[in-house]
Amino acid sequence: MFQTIIFDLDGVITDTANFHFKAWQSLAEKLGVYLTEDFNEHLKGVDRTESLSRILSHGGLKHSFSKEELITFEEEKNNLYITLIDQVSPENILPGIEQLLNDLRSNNVKIGLASASRNAPKILQNLGLYDYFDTIVDPSKLKKGKPAPEIFETACQQLNIHPKDAIGIEDAYSGIQAINDSKMLSVGIGDLNILKDADYILNNTCLLTFDKLLEIWNNK
Ligand code: G6P
Ligand code: MG
Repeated sequence: MFQTIIFDLDGVITDTANFHFKAWQSLAEKLGVYLTEDFNEHLKGVDRTESLSRILSHGGLKHSFSKEELITFEEEKNNLYITLIDQVSPENILPGIEQLLNDLRSNNVKIGLASASRNAPKILQNLGLYDYFDTIVDPSKLKKGKPAPEIFETACQQLNIHPKDAIGIEDAYSGIQAINDSKMLSVGIGDLNILKDADYILNNTCLLTFDKLLEIWNNK
């Protein structure tokens, strides 16, 4: 059986993707860049610096700012994001997730977090889920973010478990690439067209149960 489940956070455990987008949208507007909802797919799972770079490229502003200005923009977005996630509470846990965490625990399966967000520990605390996690990768210590596999490999190393004995769960295209390249089994949550490279796709977290994961693992 699988020995660990490594979760992404945004879009899998809670729906903070919308808060990230609101905060980016507000910054982008100040810079004269208009972001439509569909652009959010290019930001999911991608770290802060790369997200800003993609937004500026989208607005034709790729080389318009100094390093210092870019850092100020990142901080501005993060400050707004932090005020938005202050409202996060256990009510914002996506359906089925807490039951799954309980089932994993009672079956002695290790639980890990591989989120690109430096705000992840705070969000887990606000959700009341922090204590379920046996390990949380610190994304600021990584050489390469998603789609590179390093974050999932690091989660497995921290748990002393081989990636071949692990399942990774993601809602973003970049995250599925990262899981696949780490040689873990990948489960995508969401849109078939975006997550088509995943080993298995579930429409939403209601379908993400311990029994379903067992079935997926036994049929791989
Ligand atoms: C997650 C989100 C991204 C976000 C990244 C960094 O992967 O899906 O949208 O940019 O984390 O988050 P942070 O909270 O560190 O800015
Ligand atoms: Mg995500």
